Amino acid sequence: MTISDCGKIDPTLRSASSCHCKSFGFLHLDDSDCFVRRNMKRSYDGYASASYASPQLKRTSNSYGDSSCPEDDSTRKARKVADHYSARSNQTLEEREASPIIHLKKLNNWIKSVLIQRYARRGDAVLDLACGKGGDLIKWDKAQIGYYVGIDIAEGSIRDCRTRYNGDADQQPRRKKFSFPARLICADCYETSLNEYLSDDAPFDICSCQFAMHYSWSTEARARRALANVSALLRPGGYFIGTMPDANVIIKKLREAEGLTFGNSVYWISFDEEYALKKFKSSSPFGIQYKFHLEDAVDCPEWIVPFNHFKSLAEEYDLKLVSVKNSHAFVDEFLKMPEFAELMRRLGALGDGNLDRSTLSQDEWDVAYLYLTFVLQKGGESTARNRKNNNLHKGKMYISEEDIEILDGNI
Ligand SMILES: C[S@@+](CC[C@H](N)C(=O)[O-])C[C@H]1O[C@@H](n2cnc3c(N)ncnc32)[C@H](O)[C@@H]1O
Repeated sequence: MTISDCGKIDPTLRSASSCHCKSFGFLHLDDSDCFVRRNMKRSYDGYASASYASPQLKRTSNSYGDSSCPEDDSTRKARKVADHYSARSNQTLEEREASPIIHLKKLNNWIKSVLIQRYARRGDAVLDLACGKGGDLIKWDKAQIGYYVGIDIAEGSIRDCRTRYNGDADQQPRRKKFSFPARLICADCYETSLNEYLSDDAPFDICSCQFAMHYSWSTEARARRALANVSALLRPGGYFIGTMPDANVIIKKLREAEGLTFGNSVYWISFDEEYALKKFKSSSPFGIQYKFHLEDAVDCPEWIVPFNHFKSLAEEYDLKLVSVKNSHAFVDEFLKMPEFAELMRRLGALGDGNLDRSTLSQDEWDVAYLYLTFVLQKGGESTARNRKNNNLHKGKMYISEEDIEILDGNI
């Protein structure tokens, strides 16, 4: 299958190199202070879970953020997001294959794999912000990285990530062990000063934040903390790669909708009455909340990330934009490359081009359009990749329950 046109899918791999998908502009705020309709994210491998706080987990009192203060509105909302993801249970392989968005999950896995293969190098030290249940561990292993630190606010997800890292997950009983040492932390990445906490492990060569950066955009302080963490922990020349909702597309769809809710058979997005005019002030780019529901994956509040604001805020933290692409344009571009077309065939998002006729539905493809990929690079003279002696960092090849670090007060 390939894209014959923006928004339409062509379920044959053959025409992969002949499609003409348009690329999309960034979200703009126009002079009249509202988003311009110009040219205009999840492969949350819905695995594992089950787990809540364990008395054995190592809790570190949080002197790294502000969360010892009474819980404010943004912390409460972050907790709501954490509770949602913590409660999502691990699926068996059969349940996963029966998911109404199985091809979308596979497509998102392909997108993340392409990003990782293009930017990760053998031996790299990787910081995975909002790592979830470790759905990207295999991808990092294929890239032969040297060290991995995964952080997520949802304790249930981090515990499932541990299970998967140790090779105990039901989904992959015969998997060989991962070849890199790892460290797993439960913390709010957008509240905590990770640079102090991870100073022994820094600098990282790659920071990845997949389908999660938008959870930082509830307040300016959180968005700044997120970018400050990334910037402080990356080496000069290191890359920040990620995927998040494409605000251009969401706002366009909102404006085309009759009311404040739109969607299809697998998702819906709903804005509150306060956005009835469908106008957004460029002077207040943070805290624009909507409710997102994606069958078998997500059901929680999210925040619009106006990309031009994201780009300029990142620049303040010495992170320069290398590339941004809507997922449709991303698929169009990289599916033309034989190695990535082959990967797509193996992952099966579009069927295997052979016996397997199942493929992404139009409704799933419409969900893919809601997301973009981004790549930023830390400024400064590029330094050598981080090849720290394994003894110098805190990673382990087997992570026990007690090894999971919990930064208290964050969630
Ligand atoms: C859609 S899932 C993506 C998980 C993983 N990155 C992936 O691609 O499979 C979003 C993740 O963001 C995490 N998250 C949300 N807010 C967070 C925060 N403030 N700090 C750390 N993780 C957060 C959630 O717990 C969840 O695991």
